[in-house]
Amino acid sequence: MVSIKIAAQPRKYTIEIGRSVSECGRWAKKCLGSEPKQIVLVSNKKVHGLYGDEVSTSLSSSGFRVSTWLMGDGERFKTLPSAEKLLAFLSANNLQRTDAIVALGGGVVGDLAGFAAAVYLRGISLLQIPTTLLAMIDASVGGKTGVNSPFGKNLVGAFHQPKGVLIDVAVLRTLPPREMTAGFCEAIKQGAIGSRELFDETAAFLSAPLGDPERHLNALIAKHIEFKARIVAGDERELSKRTDSRSRKILNFGHTLAHALEKATKYKHLRHGEAVGYGILFAAELSKSLDLFGEKDVELLNDVVHRAGSLPRLANIYEKEVVEAFRSDKKHLSGSLQMVLLRGIGKPVIVDENKIPKPVLKKVLNSFLQKWA
Ligand SMILES: NC(=O)c1ccc[n+]([C@@H]2O[C@H](COP(=O)([O-])OP(=O)(O)OC[C@H]3O[C@@H](n4cnc5c(N)ncnc54)[C@H](O)[C@@H]3O)[C@@H](O)[C@H]2O)c1
Ligand SMILES: [Zn+2]
Repeated sequence: MVSIKIAAQPRKYTIEIGRSVSECGRWAKKCLGSEPKQIVLVSNKKVHGLYGDEVSTSLSSSGFRVSTWLMGDGERFKTLPSAEKLLAFLSANNLQRTDAIVALGGGVVGDLAGFAAAVYLRGISLLQIPTTLLAMIDASVGGKTGVNSPFGKNLVGAFHQPKGVLIDVAVLRTLPPREMTAGFCEAIKQGAIGSRELFDETAAFLSAPLGDPERHLNALIAKHIEFKARIVAGDERELSKRTDSRSRKILNFGHTLAHALEKATKYKHLRHGEAVGYGILFAAELSKSLDLFGEKDVELLNDVVHRAGSLPRLANIYEKEVVEAFRSDKKHLSGSLQMVLLRGIGKPVIVDENKIPKPVLKKVLNSFLQKWA
């Protein structure tokens, strides 16, 4: 088992990788202390059907009174009305400030449960058991919680650090292949901005895991979490105006195009991680056009993204819609769109859109959309 200590405010917590979900009761006791009597387990029907009984049994046998609240499956249920239903459930069950929520699921469950934990009675304890690769390496690290709203994705939320995160990669055996591809695209993103070593290790895993695949995956996930936690620790609330190669903004690598593609396809055609896969390739092409990045590295990124799995084609998406979606992203970034580009693998650079000649952006975008249509 690997334990990673996260130095968050207001307190440190630990991410345990390689502990079985069936042992979560003792783990919860360790993270929460003896005070909480009650736990509300938040999940969805699918994930609960697979792992809910194991988790509830283990929590109950460690002395917690457990009640369960299930949300709808999918991004469209990560909303304020769902959060309100969960808050009503917490209140109806008389959950006290010293009690806790356990989130069992992917990033959707984690974000919504985390948001409820942040605001119910102005904040109660949260434990995360992420069950998708994306949630293990990304969504459950960093303390961001939130919901979508009619005016945008993830625009209502709170920073609320968990008291612990438990990662059991055995649960990934039931994860659909597309979700694994999506998670690996986020891993490739983290490698591409993190370091040559993290990138190469991710690429090597995708070619052929070494020895016992679960052990190898545990080690790889640990490295990704360490990377994300390091970046977040330097800028926990994303307050700073930093634009250096280690500011939290670099985590948006591949996300400018990803958000635009998701928006242009009404969040129905692509998994978020798949859109990030395209975002990585677009950012690489743009970096090459600005003479920051070499052709060989563009080819390498293409090769590694496709090792993660095949991405749905981008048929019927046009430059105009994408540029409009760039604009709406910009609205939330005080008027200036900052693109994360690469000047080498593991070497991100933040470039203001005004520094990118419009004809270059237009040309790269058009040929990219044509190539993948
Ligand atoms: N808070 C953050 O910092 C942060 C970071 C990245 C992403 N996110 C958020 O995370 C969300 C995406 O998360 P996601 O990719 O995990 O998607 P998801 O939560 O929708 O899960 C994907 C699908 O897999 C199913 N599933 C989950 N675990 C399973 C398992 N072990 N076996 C079988 N099926 C399983 C789910 O029911 C769902 O249908 C988005 O809402 C995004 O905004 C948050
Ligand atoms: Zn992402």
